[in-house]
Amino acid sequence: MEKKEDDYSYGEAFRDFRTQGNVYEVYDKLYDEIDVHYLKDVEDVIVVGGGPALSELTFLKKLVKNVKRLTVIEKDPKFVEMMKKNVERLLPYNLEFNCHLTMAQSWQGPSGDKPKTDLILIFHSLYYFDEAERKALYDKCFNNWLNHNGKLFIKLHKDMNETNIPYYVNNVFRETKRKLYIEAYTVKRELAELGYSIDKVYPYQYYHDLKTCKQSMARIIRQHAVPAYEDDSIILQTLEKYYEADGKICTSGELFSVLGKAGTYIKDLQLKKENTDFLFMVAFDTEVLFQSEICLS
Ligand SMILES: C[S@@+](CC[C@H](N)C(=O)[O-])C[C@H]1O[C@@H](n2cnc3c(N)ncnc32)[C@H](O)[C@@H]1O
Repeated sequence: MEKKEDDYSYGEAFRDFRTQGNVYEVYDKLYDEIDVHYLKDVEDVIVVGGGPALSELTFLKKLVKNVKRLTVIEKDPKFVEMMKKNVERLLPYNLEFNCHLTMAQSWQGPSGDKPKTDLILIFHSLYYFDEAERKALYDKCFNNWLNHNGKLFIKLHKDMNETNIPYYVNNVFRETKRKLYIEAYTVKRELAELGYSIDKVYPYQYYHDLKTCKQSMARIIRQHAVPAYEDDSIILQTLEKYYEADGKICTSGELFSVLGKAGTYIKDLQLKKENTDFLFMVAFDTEVLFQSEICLS
């Protein structure tokens, strides 16, 4: 039985919502689509906005067999408690695990004897950053936190672009005149404008039955709404208006990987490789790059 909204914390609602539909099943299969060789050298990982981190831990368990250090940035103490238990349960005990209970916007980055990382995961937390904060975060990831060939993986829902399934949260926000959540398309565009490249893209879709998840969904939607709602009533009414007839709510989204700027990458390859054929190839690439820069200017 679902709880009444007043005794219902965001953390509990999030946990319930994720187990009420087929989300974790879908994510599990999604991670199977990624070639394990793509992340073969990864030992050090940063997670931004981990929540209970079940989704990130499943990703790591499947794809990063050799994880030695995991650093999570999370602003909500309830989620930190859940995450600690999940890390103990799912990842090996000799892992160096650090959790920073703070806003990602003010975190200074990795430190100690390994001031850089191999992989950053930002799953479903960019909704809570404004445009300037998102752009600052992308630049911090690539300029300060990641190794030269490090990768960033972002997971976000789709809404009005690259799908015919509008995001249910944004349907409620549009109807009730709240600030909309950012979608995958916009973040990919922002990254490309800054010179980063989207490498691999893995789309997904999952389902919820409105009857079983109405309360958890409304509680989650209320948590970050701008401006705030007084209670869940208008959210529940809007969900019913949109989804009661069908009873099913479909959510689509994407997991994608991002690489650093092409120039940095080519320079790095030149320094590392001595094979002449390879250098020829790099020189050719660099020329193409310079030509395209000249065309643009
Ligand atoms: C929708 S949950 C996603 C949790 C997890 N990443 C996943 O995909 O299952 C978003 C998480 O990001 C956290 N968060 C939101 N804004 C944040 C910020 N500015 N700094 C750190 N964490 C943040 C929230 O507290 C929440 O735990």
